[in-house]
Amino acid sequence: MEGALLLIVILGAAGTMHLGEACGEQTCPAAPDGLVNVHLIPHTHNDVGWLKTVDQYYYGAQNYIQHAGVQYILDSVISQLLLDAKKRFIYVESAFFWRWWSQQSEGLKKDVRNLVQEGRLEFINGGWTMNDEAATHYSSIIDQMTLGLKFLQSTFGECGRPRVAWHIDPFGHSREQASLFAQMGYDGLFFGRLDYQDKENREKNKQMEMVWRGSDDLNPPVADLFTGVLPNGYNPPNGFCWDQFCSDSPIMDNPLMEDYNADAVVTNFLSVVDQQSQHYRTNHLIMTMGSDFQYENANLWYKNMDKLITLVNAKQTNGSKVNVFYSTPSCYLNFLNRANMSWPIKTDDFFPYADGAHMFWTGYFTSRPAFKRYERLSNNFLQVCNQLEALTGMAARNGPYGTGDSSVLRRAMGVAQHHDAVTGTAKQAVADDYNVRLYKGWDSCQTLISNALSNLMGTKENFVFCTLLNISVCPFSEAAKTFNVILYNPLGRSVTWNVRLPVSGRKYLVLGSSGEPIRNEVVPVSEFTKAVRRDKGQAEQELIFQAEIPPLGISKFAIGALTTQGLFVKPKKLLQHPNSIQNQYYQVDFDPGTGLIAGIRNLEKGISLPLTQSLYWYKASAGNAGSAQVSGAYIFRPNQTEVEHVTQKVQTYLVENSLVQEVYQNFSSWCSQVVRLYKDQRYVELEWTVGPIPIGDGQGKEVISRFDTKLQTDGGFYTDANGRQILQRRRNHRETWELEQTEPVAGNYYPVNSRIYIKDKDTQFTVLTDRSQGGSSITDGSVELMVHRRLLLDDSRGVGEPLFEPGQYGEGLVVRGRHLLLLDSPRDAAEQHRLLAVQEYMSPQIILSSTDGAPYYKGNPSRTQFSGLQAALPPNAHLLTFALREPNKVLIRLEHPFQGQESSNYSQPITVNLQTLFSTVSLSDFIETTLSANEEKNKVKRMSWRTGKSSPSLADIAHSALDPSNVTLNPMEIRTFLATIHYKSQVWESR
Ligand SMILES: *[C@@H]1O[C@H](CO)[C@@H](O)[C@H](O)[C@H]1NC(C)=O
Ligand SMILES: *[C@@H]1O[C@H](CO)[C@@H](O)[C@H](O)[C@H]1NC(C)=O
Ligand SMILES: [Zn+2]
Repeated sequence: MEGALLLIVILGAAGTMHLGEACGEQTCPAAPDGLVNVHLIPHTHNDVGWLKTVDQYYYGAQNYIQHAGVQYILDSVISQLLLDAKKRFIYVESAFFWRWWSQQSEGLKKDVRNLVQEGRLEFINGGWTMNDEAATHYSSIIDQMTLGLKFLQSTFGECGRPRVAWHIDPFGHSREQASLFAQMGYDGLFFGRLDYQDKENREKNKQMEMVWRGSDDLNPPVADLFTGVLPNGYNPPNGFCWDQFCSDSPIMDNPLMEDYNADAVVTNFLSVVDQQSQHYRTNHLIMTMGSDFQYENANLWYKNMDKLITLVNAKQTNGSKVNVFYSTPSCYLNFLNRANMSWPIKTDDFFPYADGAHMFWTGYFTSRPAFKRYERLSNNFLQVCNQLEALTGMAARNGPYGTGDSSVLRRAMGVAQHHDAVTGTAKQAVADDYNVRLYKGWDSCQTLISNALSNLMGTKENFVFCTLLNISVCPFSEAAKTFNVILYNPLGRSVTWNVRLPVSGRKYLVLGSSGEPIRNEVVPVSEFTKAVRRDKGQAEQELIFQAEIPPLGISKFAIGALTTQGLFVKPKKLLQHPNSIQNQYYQVDFDPGTGLIAGIRNLEKGISLPLTQSLYWYKASAGNAGSAQVSGAYIFRPNQTEVEHVTQKVQTYLVENSLVQEVYQNFSSWCSQVVRLYKDQRYVELEWTVGPIPIGDGQGKEVISRFDTKLQTDGGFYTDANGRQILQRRRNHRETWELEQTEPVAGNYYPVNSRIYIKDKDTQFTVLTDRSQGGSSITDGSVELMVHRRLLLDDSRGVGEPLFEPGQYGEGLVVRGRHLLLLDSPRDAAEQHRLLAVQEYMSPQIILSSTDGAPYYKGNPSRTQFSGLQAALPPNAHLLTFALREPNKVLIRLEHPFQGQESSNYSQPITVNLQTLFSTVSLSDFIETTLSANEEKNKVKRMSWRTGKSSPSLADIAHSALDPSNVTLNPMEIRTFLATIHYKSQVWESR
């Protein structure tokens, strides 16, 4: 008996060791050198919401909309894999796999773990979703990848770590995404969509596969990513689709049958192989065998591929050189790597994407602008939630306000990054579902934040979250005679923030955190705002004051209404348009005739720029003889290059006090703007309100804000990639091929996630956005951003609905947003736009409370100010992530937000001491990881690739031992750490 037991134990141990080594390269099929090796990649593409919601897709509900059920796909594929050791499958979207996994039996889970160990079920990409690349912000891309990869790591260990990035469907590809993937440890990227002219060219020149250099700042090969364009998008070659959704003939291989077609299928396949070989460099070919929601009945696919493999390989005895087998993208990539060839290098990006003449996918850069803003704001809120969870620990998850955590919002944000979510290309009902998910995430975070604030501030108060302040709605501040304003600043440096709250009183006393009176002003709520908020709020006034908030910290202000009467200054209704407004830093001039902006001056730098700004719209095309393509959710196609004016002349009025100067411009019943300069503010703010876009004339409209200057820009302009590095654009030009331009406007649109600028030798004009939008420079000296679009036709890319957005009242959605204008010398411009962009996506969070709060934590004096840091971080060290990963482990990312050379002050390496960074928590056991936190940095072994230029191999990058007290960041670098966190018991006595 004892002997038998021992034997089992030994076998168990040996078995584990064997399994531990199994996945990876050694599980790849044999592929002899003298043959053309065809890698069949069985795969399914599962959209995390599009025509149906993510849950409907998972369960296979509402199949009358689209027949699709992810749970059945996984059931079917897994049972096929378990039946036959030759078969392989890849799975991509962790949001779905996570749903499926939680419902499986232990027995099946064990089987699936084995399949993963054997490399037959391989996770590819592995983010929560396959994120969009045009409308996404880097902060959220990193978070959603980290979320999915963490699930895979904790479920499957090292064999569950994807090596290959797989962006087969996103509508264009960003350079920053390539850089991020490289830093996450991926060996390669495959995608399906690129401009049709680019593809033709690459096929002709055998440039379908390349090394994409994702950054000019990070030392090669840190941001280099091997990148392959797939031959057929992500579909199988024509004639070889064997899913239940396809209509190609199955292989009928009994020669006695009348419809016998096996020989014809083989001949056809060999000719496809021959064709494809002409576009690729090695003797390996990749074929994606699958498509949207395929493999629900996996037997259909596998049965026919089994036959194809047998029949094609049998020809080898007759001298055929074609060898076909089941494979995975990482096995294919291994063979390419072993080929040891020199690959072309690419440094620009794959925007914009067109799948034919007049068919530019540049509308989705702007589609659903309200959702795009909610998504960006939700990232802001998630970072606040993460930080307060990490600063407070378990007391934040479970406290006087109940239970809440950051995971609901993190998953909702993961879903929102999907390439039909933040893009605005899902059906309206699905877009509604994305909104609901975010809303529920906010709800859980609000509970967490209440617990955390109560803990950190030492009192139990009635916390109120007013989320409609942008339209001056907050029933609490409107009704309360006295209340508190608590501001949390998620930045590592202190900020000055302009608080603006709807109130019903006319005079207020505002006390700062040390009881000092704070200057404040009361201004009337504008008619523009009243028209948007309707009966949601009644406040006639807004209270404005300036708040200073410490790094990673809290400031609390006490507000009280005064009864003094008669001092209220009504805004001047002007008979004439104002000539100008100004603060210490900026002046804005207006045209006395039209009321439009006529110029901007940076008073500090002595730079003036004559500039006209107005709102216009493009008539959406309904198709014409040249092309039937219409403008829709994906595609932007204006009817003509010329824009329509919303108006030539606006009505204006001025609000002026010690804290703010504002010119209100009324363009039309559905279009208005406020030009604003707060005291001490180093930029000009334009708050635009657009909608409901009228469509009574039967004309779809795409509204832009355009700035026209005399700057000599020679066709050039600059846009950011995912809020991070800057790319230079040139009108009617592409870096790597001779463009034949078919759309002079839409074909020059690019994604703007955070900024667009133009410059000449002496002057740079920059516009910062509060969400992703499409933008361009259609004539020299001009910059435009598309702010809203409402369309009457579907653009035939599958969504099957016009982008109509009826909004809450059924009349058309009203959208409000801000553009921040900066004027500077090109040499100094980066300093402001970098710092401001970081501040914009990590803004302070406002929480209100009643004044009857009482001390809550025993022995814990209540306080009115708090900082989570011992000292502020310098401006070029940004705390990108501070989040609990496990109850006692935190995830920390430090980022250098500047590119090299762009700022004389800040484009320098910067050193941070992580050990003494935080004030109320201490950290130990630091481990540096890849960007996605699923592999230790010093264990990373990425493949190295030869390019024409000599590029250093990875071995050249030294893995020096980590000293957490001396963490150096170089321009554009993000460093990621895991550490153990210790909560000091006397949090409240530390200040
Ligand atoms: C623009 O509209 C006009 C008038 O309907 C039509 O003749 C023309 O073909 C349209 N052009 C495009 C590109 O849609
Ligand atoms: C910090 O690290 C850098 C290298 O990264 C090194 O040159 C420097 O001497 C270190 N400083 C201290 C105080 O250890
Ligand atoms: Zn898709």
